[in-house]
Amino acid sequence: MSHKIEVRPARSQDVKAIRALTAPYVERGLLVSKPPVSYYESLPEFLVACDADGEVIGCGAVHVMWKGLGEIRTLAAAPAWRGRGVGHRLVDALMARARQLGLWRLFCLTFEVDFFAAHGFTPIEGIPVSHKVFEQLMRSHDDGVAEFLDLARVKPNTLGNTRMLVHLDGEPAGRHRHSHLKCEL
Ligand SMILES: CC(C)(COP(=O)(O)OP(=O)(O)OC[C@H]1O[C@@H](n2cnc3c(N)ncnc32)[C@H](O)[C@@H]1OP(=O)(O)O)[C@@H](O)C(=O)NCCC(=O)NCCS
Repeated sequence: MSHKIEVRPARSQDVKAIRALTAPYVERGLLVSKPPVSYYESLPEFLVACDADGEVIGCGAVHVMWKGLGEIRTLAAAPAWRGRGVGHRLVDALMARARQLGLWRLFCLTFEVDFFAAHGFTPIEGIPVSHKVFEQLMRSHDDGVAEFLDLARVKPNTLGNTRMLVHLDGEPAGRHRHSHLKCEL
């Protein structure tokens, strides 16, 4: 990889660039449409990729949903940079961030199945949380959580997407990595 790409935590000044680079994908229904304030509110979840001049050329976020469980969301590479390694760099960094946050399972909802499979994500059926956790997650106002729960109100966002999950190192001993273990309360 010859392009010099730096991945760093996002700053509030980056929101304009994050919105600009995600806009074409939001328009095509690849990413969920969110008001500007949502980007500011969720800024601590975001990492950005920058080129050698410091321009923001990619972004992605880790959203914590429950104990040990999070989601990679709003992953995007600027159109001119697609296919040049930005996405893979961001996913590596987001997975490292997820481990720091004490997560051992990461979910994503995507059309980019092969891309995420390269990072160990596999397609899942159903919703891998216990009934009790499901009930608690239902209290969230977050659309991404609603998508994870496969709720009817967000069906237009999820249609055609694949639900994928990866187990990270650091999963507590005693858990079976390849079963779809239900999160506990
Ligand atoms: C998914 C996405 C973030 C990947 O970012 P990226 O920087 O293009 O990804 P990379 O360059 O790291 O890897 C893309 C792969 O496709 C290949 N590729 C080649 N040309 C490509 C092109 N024009 N566009 C995309 N990928 C291309 C790359 O070589 C690489 O192959 P590999 O996985 O075998 O290594 C990016 O395509 C994107 O922004 N998509 C729209 C938003 C989206 O769907 N996000 C996911 C929602 S969870």
